[in-house]
Amino acid sequence: MIMTYQEVLENARKTILNCKVCPECNGLACGNTLPGPGSKAPGNGAYENWKGWKAIRLNVDTFVPDTEVDARMDLFGHRFSLPVLTGPIGSMTQYSREDVTVGFNAAMIRACAETGIVDCFGDGIVEKTVAGALEAVAEHPDCAIPVFNPLPNAKICEKIERFESSGTLATCVVVDSAGLSHWRFKGESPGSKTVEDLKFLKSCTKKPFLIKGIMTAKAALKAVEAGADGIIVSNHGGRVLPDVPSTAEVLPEIARAVKGQTKIIVDGGIRHGSDMVKALALGADAVMICRPFAVAWFGGDAEGIRTYVEKLREEFTGAMYMVGARKLADLCPDMVR
Ligand SMILES: Cc1cc2nc3c(=O)[nH]c(=O)nc-3n(C[C@H](O)[C@H](O)[C@H](O)COP(=O)(O)O)c2cc1C
Repeated sequence: MIMTYQEVLENARKTILNCKVCPECNGLACGNTLPGPGSKAPGNGAYENWKGWKAIRLNVDTFVPDTEVDARMDLFGHRFSLPVLTGPIGSMTQYSREDVTVGFNAAMIRACAETGIVDCFGDGIVEKTVAGALEAVAEHPDCAIPVFNPLPNAKICEKIERFESSGTLATCVVVDSAGLSHWRFKGESPGSKTVEDLKFLKSCTKKPFLIKGIMTAKAALKAVEAGADGIIVSNHGGRVLPDVPSTAEVLPEIARAVKGQTKIIVDGGIRHGSDMVKALALGADAVMICRPFAVAWFGGDAEGIRTYVEKLREEFTGAMYMVGARKLADLCPDMVR
């Protein structure tokens, strides 16, 4: 029998470091001090993101035919059981005395392949952190996306080549990591990218190309100009700049600007299936969820991840049913307020 989510959380409390494993992962108890380097004061971006979704309400509509809910998503020529991508975690060292990133990446890819969602993994400062991921990608092609930090273009290109041959679904560059100071301490040099840089990086890959860290309609239009097949509306969980809007606030204007020209994925404080319904109703094609997957892994390895995915599935299909949506394309702005 699969573990309950309560059991996953109880187990995680025994093994995880720093994180308080709250019943609701909203950045309040930890003050968004996790994962450490990069968390930006003043304010609490993680909490602001979470609050953004809570401020949106669902409109009940049961005046529709009583048919089955179909939550499947088609992305880049592949079918997934839910519109969920996991958020990349470049290093798990904040959560554990030992660096467990290798095992985490591998378990995530295997569990995501099994449950029918997409795994995104960070390229990591330490080269060995991606080794486990690449092995797992080879076993389970087309369900994982490497997310490259904005290092010099030649370095990213070199990595793209190595990763792509293992069978990744797409290639992603995270542009807002340009503001993360801890990379500089490690002797690397991430930095901002122009549209021309991004066009060049797209030319390095044969896979669909995503850009993570979009927070304005203007940036979304630039991403489209660069040829992005998908954008990830994200403020890095509030880690790169204080006083930014929540992702729920900016999603509608970004969707108005680029919906249909590129896939739109949104992250930041999305915790429940009901939040997923809100995100898709407001124009996202899929959601990305990060921190709860780390907790689920500490709480039960691959089984913990499965438990969390099944919880999301039940909540999402239940909420779709109640707002009158029977397939993802039915979700639209008048289902929320
Ligand atoms: C420990 C940790 C490490 C992260 N590392 C990366 C990374 O390497 N690359 C990246 O694009 N985002 C990274 N992020 C940001 C997440 O992918 C995600 O954008 C953010 O946490 C917001 O989602 P959430 O509120 O569901 O956690 C990291 C987040 C955490 C908590």
